[in-house]
Amino acid sequence: MHSLKYDDAAMWDTVAGQGGVTKAEWRAMIPRLREADRSLARLSRGKQGWISPGSAKDPWVKEVLAQAKKVRGSSRGLLVIGIGGSDLGARALLQSLGDPSKGVWLDVLSNPDPEYIAAKLDDAKEWLKETAVLVVSKSGMTLETMAIFSLVREKLKALKGDKHRSQIYVISDPNGNPLHELSKSEGYNFIPHALNIGGRFSILSSVGLFPAACAGIPITRVLKGAQDRSLKNAAQRFAALHTLAMATHGQGTHVLMPYSNALETFGDWYRQIWAESLGKNGKGPTPLAALGTIDQHSQVQLFHDGPNDKAYTFISVEKPRRDVRLPASVNRIMPGLGGKKLSEIMQASYKGTATALSGAQRPHGTITIPTISPETVGALAQFFMLATAYTGELMGVNTFDQPGVEAGKIETKRLLGLV
Ligand code: PA5
Repeated sequence: MHSLKYDDAAMWDTVAGQGGVTKAEWRAMIPRLREADRSLARLSRGKQGWISPGSAKDPWVKEVLAQAKKVRGSSRGLLVIGIGGSDLGARALLQSLGDPSKGVWLDVLSNPDPEYIAAKLDDAKEWLKETAVLVVSKSGMTLETMAIFSLVREKLKALKGDKHRSQIYVISDPNGNPLHELSKSEGYNFIPHALNIGGRFSILSSVGLFPAACAGIPITRVLKGAQDRSLKNAAQRFAALHTLAMATHGQGTHVLMPYSNALETFGDWYRQIWAESLGKNGKGPTPLAALGTIDQHSQVQLFHDGPNDKAYTFISVEKPRRDVRLPASVNRIMPGLGGKKLSEIMQASYKGTATALSGAQRPHGTITIPTISPETVGALAQFFMLATAYTGELMGVNTFDQPGVEAGKIETKRLLGLV
């Protein structure tokens, strides 16, 4: 069974008219694509660890599984504290694949919003005693994460005394940063963040997979999906077509619209990787997350009739994990609807929207997955990481740095008198 198919027929001028990519533009792109491929091959030699996804045989995967087993055996829940690349991957995996019957419950704290955090801490006595706490920070110095972690740590200490240590897990670069040092001196459970994997490319590393494994997600199957060799070719096409859409046709807003609630948070993850990797040097696409069918009643009006400055990608799920058939009684309101399945409504809605966009000559493509499974979600994650890296190469930007994020971090710390 294939893990993912990318159909780009409606990205071309044959469907999207003047807004679509032409054969001549594509031909001119081919040598650039070859060069981008050579570049990525160079980066895959140790510099960007995510390019070759891990497998069950890798020591780090075994370590993640062993630590997660420990959590599942000793705790009822896992509280993840992290932000940006340090929490979005876990959130996306949890939403698409989490099954409360198979692992511990999971919660994530990212935003140091005082009202939200205060409310969480108010009833900490009820849940924190039997909860493992995972703090994730590659740099070990992110303000929001350290602030929230310090509050939770004090609460846990107050509840458990010295015993609190065995409940704390730390994922960070093993390079002597402040969090790593604290972890060593306090004797917390430490899981290394791979030094050659950046925050937003870490969904398939310990950062995304340890919390996922605690939640009972079969992470070796997620990794297996990511190893699908056909992803590379599909990601190259996606990257080249979106680069052309942006640079040649002015379609610099890139919409991702899955028709599945399970993939809504995956849209947030996509938004970060696309924006933070590619928004550089005065250029870059604006990612926009949408959800089918919800946004048919919200943003699709703009997509269809607004400015032709966007390229769209639908994610269609062929077979949902569960389905529901409508009762015959619905015929009294909508004759003919009785007996149809909700999956048929989702499919018709996606196809109807895609066809309407073709009619309005708006460029779009569709990623189809057979179902939501560990393999297909792993494939989706790897596909978008590859597509991001190829797009960065084609645009000529450094995909893997984030000077804008760092500048904001420094200014914030300056305002707080920390630097
Ligand atoms: O992708 C990135 O590099 C950022 O979004 C980081 O993940 C985010 O700023 C959090 O950084 P850290 O993991 O160092 O706490």
